[in-house]
Amino acid sequence: MADGPLLAELYFGREDAERDVTDGLLLRGAFLPTAAYRGAVGGRKMLIIGRKGSGKSAICMQVLAEATHPYGKVLITPDETAGDEIRRFDLQGLPGDSARALIWRYVFAVHTARHLVAHAKEEHGRRPGSVKALARFLKQNDELSTGRLGDRLAQGAKGLQTSLSLEAFGVKAGMDLAHSPSEGARALRQLDVVEQGVVRALADLGCDGTHGPLLLMVDQLEQVWSAEPDSNSLVIGLLLAAKHAAGLYARSVRPLLFLRADIYDSLSFGEGDKFHGDELRISWTEQSLRDLALARARASAGADLGEEQLWREVFPESVRGEATASFLFRRCLPRPRDAIQFLNLCQETASLINGRDRITEEDVLQASRQFSAWKLNDLTLEYLVAHPFLKRLFPLFQNTGYRVTRAALTTRFDAAAETLHRLFPAYADALTPAGVVDVLYGVGFLGVRRGNDVVFAGGDDLPVQPHETQFVVHPCFREALGATSAVDLRPYEPSSAGARIVTGALSPAAPGTTAVTRDVQLVRELIRSCHAVLGQAGRAVGLAQDVRNEITDRMERVRDDANGILTDAGSVDVHDHLLTVAHYFAGLAAQLLDSGLDGTAGAEGVGHRIEEESRRLRRLAGGSYGSSGDSAGS
Ligand SMILES: Nc1ncnc2c1ncn2[C@@H]1O[C@H](COP(=O)(O)OP(=O)(O)O)[C@@H](O)[C@H]1O
Ligand SMILES: [Mg+2]
Repeated sequence: MADGPLLAELYFGREDAERDVTDGLLLRGAFLPTAAYRGAVGGRKMLIIGRKGSGKSAICMQVLAEATHPYGKVLITPDETAGDEIRRFDLQGLPGDSARALIWRYVFAVHTARHLVAHAKEEHGRRPGSVKALARFLKQNDELSTGRLGDRLAQGAKGLQTSLSLEAFGVKAGMDLAHSPSEGARALRQLDVVEQGVVRALADLGCDGTHGPLLLMVDQLEQVWSAEPDSNSLVIGLLLAAKHAAGLYARSVRPLLFLRADIYDSLSFGEGDKFHGDELRISWTEQSLRDLALARARASAGADLGEEQLWREVFPESVRGEATASFLFRRCLPRPRDAIQFLNLCQETASLINGRDRITEEDVLQASRQFSAWKLNDLTLEYLVAHPFLKRLFPLFQNTGYRVTRAALTTRFDAAAETLHRLFPAYADALTPAGVVDVLYGVGFLGVRRGNDVVFAGGDDLPVQPHETQFVVHPCFREALGATSAVDLRPYEPSSAGARIVTGALSPAAPGTTAVTRDVQLVRELIRSCHAVLGQAGRAVGLAQDVRNEITDRMERVRDDANGILTDAGSVDVHDHLLTVAHYFAGLAAQLLDSGLDGTAGAEGVGHRIEEESRRLRRLAGGSYGSSGDSAGS
């Protein structure tokens, strides 16, 4: 295989769909028709909800690009001006949400009208009077221009608040609107006239049933989103309007709203529960991300690139003993933007920074450190509006084990609570130990231990339940936090580094074998202690595998070291060595108990066991000759 050119050509594309279309790969064979895509174009769902980078815009781009798509399609992306217009739009006599709904309904009506006027001829071969009326209406209200949505909206808003030109629909200027009891009522009546005009045109053309619905897609609301109540109202109005339009235009027009999960989930309004049936949440699995990687690798480096070749020859076969693809995708939040960034980073690290012609394990590890730092930062930015305090919570997890219990988290949180409340007084209600767990779980930072699994947010999983007490920091953020081991256990320094003191008295040639025997006995006791702890850790069913691994690892090191002393008798002052290990055990036990892996069968037991062994070793070193040390004390 020609490694060199292949790696140089390998490119996984741009990170956002809009640029991925213009100078990336999206429409060059890299698009995956996911369930969300199929649901969006063919299903009955109206709300496509996904986190930042999950592929909302990609679906819009794909739908727009499909030449063969039998339906009409319109993409509406509000820019700042449009957002301002909608936010500011209010009508005397109507609550804010309803007023915003009216302006969105107007947007939908106008866009449908524009589509009908433009395409009636080509799609239906005729232009009935009702369509001509729409054309006149659009012209008279200056809605035919290709100008920016924001500018047109400004005019439409003014028209709704005062008066639109409705002559095209046979309504005389200044119709009996004067009698409307309020600004809101007048706007509503005008809007009814426009919407009925659209309904009539749809009926005359017989759109219903002869072809699929016109897709009215709204994307990129995040551009106009902030935490102000008016922003909420802008989105709630959009939801209400979409529901209204879906009912009014029945099967001829289908509004399709692409919403960021953090925005959608932060809305609360009376009719919110009516939308659950319309929701479709975008989700990605490790397998679908693998498919995405392969599709993009092929689109850039050649269609004949095989999966095997990608994951064995271009990428190293494994990283830290784990298959590379799973190493990578376990360290991403499950969404394509993260996957694309991480994959490109590996490629750049190998090819550009380290000048290699294939990616090595070190390149991946180097990239993963950088990526982790990016992601921690990105998470803060993603939730800047919804949870502005997020960044201030990260120190609670810095330089500790990545497993935490509710108890340990509560202790750490309590220490920081005062500062947090002072900095974010408006969020005091959320800034409680339980509130923080909910937020961190919700954003995908923490997973919750359920049975033998760790579950991260996403999909249809339950939120954290009050009885659940064990959490895990997502692998994606561990390196940036310096939280790369399961629990915060001090490494064992082998005797050579610390307690190894050669005592001349223990020369093998010396006749006094008692001393040697005693030393050997003591070392054997030490090994017994290690085995006792290893055994208990092995039996502790409630212990998470990675915690067990770490305890095992440390115990084995102490044991191997002790075995070394046995074969190299006299190299060490056994008495001192025992005290050193006893001291190490005591610290280890304290850390284990502190890290708060309590409340689960096993962890606490193992902690106490290590504590007991520490005491036993200390007693032995203290000279309980000939005793196992087991008889005294607890
Ligand atoms: N179904 C898909 N197939 C291929 N690439 C995708 C797909 N969905 C998303 N992507 C890619 O993932 C990246 C992020 O997607 P994007 O649509 O910009 O996210 P969002 O709009 O949800 O923030 C883009 O590069 C996009 O091309
Ligand atoms: Mg987008």
